[in-house]
Amino acid sequence: MSEAKKSLFIKTYGCQMNVYDSDRMADVLARDGYRRVDSADQADLILLNTCHIREKAAEKVYSEVGRLKKLKDAAASEGRTVSIAVAGCVAQAEGEEIMARAPAVDAVIGPQSYHRLPQVLERVQRDGHAIETEFPAEDKFDHMPAPGSARPKGQISAFLTVQEGCDKFCTFCVVPYTRGSEASRPVDRIVEEARGLVERGAREIMLLGQNVNAFHGSGPDGEDWSLARLLARLSEIDGLERLRYTTSHPRDMRDDLIGAHRDLAKVMPYLHLPVQSGSDRILKAMNRRHGRDDYLQLIDRLRAARPDLALSGDFIVGFPGETDADFAATMELIRTVGYAQAYSFKYSPRPGTPAADRADQVDESVKSERLAGLQTLLGDQQRAFNAQMQGRMMDVLLEKPGRETGQLTGRSPWLQPVQVDAPAALIGSIVPVRIDRIGANSLFGTMLDPVSGDAGDGETAATLRPGAAA
Ligand code: 5AD
Ligand code: SF4
Repeated sequence: MSEAKKSLFIKTYGCQMNVYDSDRMADVLARDGYRRVDSADQADLILLNTCHIREKAAEKVYSEVGRLKKLKDAAASEGRTVSIAVAGCVAQAEGEEIMARAPAVDAVIGPQSYHRLPQVLERVQRDGHAIETEFPAEDKFDHMPAPGSARPKGQISAFLTVQEGCDKFCTFCVVPYTRGSEASRPVDRIVEEARGLVERGAREIMLLGQNVNAFHGSGPDGEDWSLARLLARLSEIDGLERLRYTTSHPRDMRDDLIGAHRDLAKVMPYLHLPVQSGSDRILKAMNRRHGRDDYLQLIDRLRAARPDLALSGDFIVGFPGETDADFAATMELIRTVGYAQAYSFKYSPRPGTPAADRADQVDESVKSERLAGLQTLLGDQQRAFNAQMQGRMMDVLLEKPGRETGQLTGRSPWLQPVQVDAPAALIGSIVPVRIDRIGANSLFGTMLDPVSGDAGDGETAATLRPGAAA
């Protein structure tokens, strides 16, 4: 009789790289007979893929383990063993502390060791627990099965990690400590993985890296390739229609990458380019290694290359020593740039990072007030950006069933969700859509006939095209 399948539940916190890692861990464990399930209730193994970027994110793990302990105890009373493993950046940063604080956790495994998951679980069986947080000499990607090999069908928009880690050492950030120093994957392996994703149905690939535009993977010609060169190579893959990349650092936004936004049709007109602050004094204290004007000039060059480029960013308010004037400079920068979308956070002191030790921490109440002001401004900008899409014609990549029957959800080139009435057979297609209505979180549109541009109501794509550039 064959052994009953074991079930695996993964809860993912934090960034897209964790989402990618969770899928890859599921692929690794599939070889050992683990089937991924959607709920922790009946799972034999529960994996928490954690985030350490801010205190709140890290604390969530401990409260989740508290809840899961009840599940584990209840299963034990029925004679069933449930294992709990903590992966991701909290695992890397806090290692043994996790076991001490949360004895219900059986295993702790850092992001560079995911290929060793089966051995870690064997050690749990043998010793009752295991911790694996070294940075191993071998490359985990060389020791993991092809992505998606365990899943019946891939996603229309897929993630692909091309670079990991960071050498920038911004004074607020844990990433250089949890993800280690910057490393890029070889070009051939990335192309192979991209081809596999396209064969499994992907039409869009989002290249991931903590510092993705610092990419310098070794190419088949023995040279180090830039991200721009990689994007050009990936553009040649038939069936791959859209390319995106995240997250970028302003310092690594080189000429050839700016040129890629002008020259490569498959590179989408959307860029996440965090600046964190608009004050030169704070940027210096953050060790960002560029000033406000450098950033603004960079945006000008990007927009000259690609006039309809939409920008997204990250902002931190209440960094130690931030004055009202510094904060005003950030607001001013936001007004100058105009963001389509953005993430903003209160500064959170992270143990082991230089800024955490500063004596001039900003009051929580001041942080909250500044964050509220900043989010109001960013919210207004996002609404304005979406509102100007009214009546416009755009290409939408249809990704999955929509909220209502007969509806599909897709994405605009600028990453906005778009709801369209369309048959499920069109999932994976890029179709012309006229935007009829702007919702709170989505755009609503009508699919046009790709040949005549006819929406079936007398209007045509041609008449809807004026002012197509943002
Ligand atoms: N506190 C607040 N926000 C932070 N980020 C990184 N570290 C911290 C911190 N200690 C934010 C930055 C970064 C994003 C991923 O998270 O804005 O770009
Ligand atoms: Fe963190 Fe990004 Fe700075 Fe690296 S560049 S230290 S990942 S904020």
